[in-house]
Amino acid sequence: MKALAVTPLVKNSLRLIDHSLKETDVIVKVLETGVCRTDKEIIMGLYGEAPPDSNYLIIGHECLGVVVRGSKILKEGDYVVRMVRRPCYDNRCDNCLEGNQDMCSSGNYTEAGIKGVHGGMAEYFTDTEDNLIYIPKEHSGVGVLLEPLSVVEKATYQVGRIQERLSWNPKRALVIGAGSIGLLEAMLLRLNDMDVFVMARSPSGNKKSQIVEAIDAHYISTEETSFEAFLRTKIKFDFIYEASGNAKIIPLLWAALANNGVLSLSSITGGNEEINFPIERLNLQTVLGNKLIFGAVNSNKSDYKTGVKNFMKIKNTWPGILEKMLTRRVSIDNYTRAFETSSEDIKTVIEF
Ligand code: BGC
Repeated sequence: MKALAVTPLVKNSLRLIDHSLKETDVIVKVLETGVCRTDKEIIMGLYGEAPPDSNYLIIGHECLGVVVRGSKILKEGDYVVRMVRRPCYDNRCDNCLEGNQDMCSSGNYTEAGIKGVHGGMAEYFTDTEDNLIYIPKEHSGVGVLLEPLSVVEKATYQVGRIQERLSWNPKRALVIGAGSIGLLEAMLLRLNDMDVFVMARSPSGNKKSQIVEAIDAHYISTEETSFEAFLRTKIKFDFIYEASGNAKIIPLLWAALANNGVLSLSSITGGNEEINFPIERLNLQTVLGNKLIFGAVNSNKSDYKTGVKNFMKIKNTWPGILEKMLTRRVSIDNYTRAFETSSEDIKTVIEF
């Protein structure tokens, strides 16, 4: 079968290969797989690991497919999305033992399409039933967004849990980045009635700003208002979600947090850049303001399930908005087009 693979840590080694599937349990025919920044970083050679018995890695971790060989629970014809992370393989840690591999403490987890397990940029994949999330047919058109939505659900849920430390009624939020993760987070925050600002590079009037405006949030283009100028307005945010991949702005974001606020980081940055850091000032503000900065990666099975429920809420509140996020569809045979970057793109999917 056709699959897209890289030689991990080798820059630009992406190629179309012929791969034979080693069947495990359920067999899934892939309908479409989303492209995300992690895939691009793997292609740049910054990230990624092949399965132990292979010298290449099939990439792709945002996959929607249809079951062609079922199991006890899943039937042929069911739509499914594949969970990315699997528990640690050696001396399983407590979190993995409890089924919370998104919180793996050993770091020995594997991830389909990223670390040690073949992914879903292929005509088929095979997996065990517990790694597959059933999607009602009515959501299959946007099912490819469930994996990124689950990542956002996890961070949002965890912020709520963390903030049980105090009485917290967040009113204003800032989201950095208007890719699929940033936009989905903005939607969840709007569903919670927060006043949401989304900051991104693209000039206003593009597909990203149209979505932000459609959900009654404010779009700020850094081409029109510099980040520093915006922060000089001294507006403070109860919650800030960083999803732009620009780690250098973290100190500025930290300073824009309101007292008791939370800064949540979500970008996977494979680089090595260093900056000067006003650490004493930030330390003082953090302590005096009870501020919190935390990272959240991957997602729990419960986050996928919440995501499926929120598909419904999002669709009812803003009909057609999720479909608008799927800005480019590319067939596997034209795969190079899927990795070209354009400021108008939100989510590109590869069709199989
Ligand atoms: C994926 C996560 C994964 C993370 C780190 C992200 O792009 O969405 O599921 O855990 O990369 O590998």
